[in-house]
Order: sequence, then structure tokens, then C-alpha cells
Amino acid sequence: MTDSQTLVDAARQIAQQSYSPYSKFAVGAAILWDDATLSVGVNVENASYPLSVCAERSAVSAGIADGKRRIVKVAVWADVDDVIAPCGACRQVLYEFCGGEAASVEVILAGRQQVRSTSLDVLLPDAFGPESLAQPQ
Ligand code: THU
Repeated sequence: MTDSQTLVDAARQIAQQSYSPYSKFAVGAAILWDDATLSVGVNVENASYPLSVCAERSAVSAGIADGKRRIVKVAVWADVDDVIAPCGACRQVLYEFCGGEAASVEVILAGRQQVRSTSLDVLLPDAFGPESLAQPQ
């Protein structure tokens, strides 16, 4: 089982590839999938600012393109003293791939001085997801 430190290290390392010339706020994310493989992502900004994509969603896209469907653990790293937590859009996108078990997805928030562990159900309570659509009328 990939430990949390390995995941944080992967997020920190990949953050160096962040394309963030506008915010100058580099973020890296690493996802552990249920087949024990990792995907990583960075924030990718755009001159048309709203088109920017967060590191977490980049990491999800990389894993999905690689055939993964179920997230076990996520690490998010930003070059800050404390930590940052995923934005609302990313929480929703992560939820899509938790198999309806948000409590089972650990989310590790890491910065220069701090590491904090939480879970997707805490970050996104009462989520709307695939199982909501599957409810009979
Ligand atoms: N950002 C992320 O990549 N992940 C987060 O969890 C929060 C924010 C990015 C988006 C943008 O490129 C920059 O950080 C500043 O908001």
C-alpha cells in the first residue's frame, strides 16, 4: 500500500511542472487508485483565466485516461506554510470516482510546514453523485 508520505512527495515533486504564470501559485496533486497505481497532476492556467484547471482535476483526468475509476487517496501540495484544501469543483470531481464511499477517500493536505489528513465526506457532505441519478423515480 502506497503510504501517505509517498503520495505527498509525488504531489510536491510534480508541482514543479505547474503552469501557473498568472497566479504564480503552483499546486501538485497525486491520486492513489484502487489498483495501487498513482496519477499526478498540476494546475494548468490559461490567458483566459476561467479556463484554468486545478491540479486535482488534472490528476483525475490522467488517471481516467489510464483506465482508473476508483480513488483511494489524494494528496494536494501547495507551496504555502500551512495547507490548502481542494476547491469546490475539485471536491465534486473527486466524488465522482469514490464509488459512493466518500468516507473511504483520504485527502492529505500538505504545505511546506504542515500536513493534515481529512476525508472526502468531510470536504463534501451530502454530495450529489452517480448514485443520486440512479435513484428510481
Ligand atoms: N488551485 C489548484 O490547482 N488546486 C486547489 O486546490 C486550489 C487552487 C490552483 C488554481 C489556480 O491555478 C491557482 O491554484 C490559484 O487559484
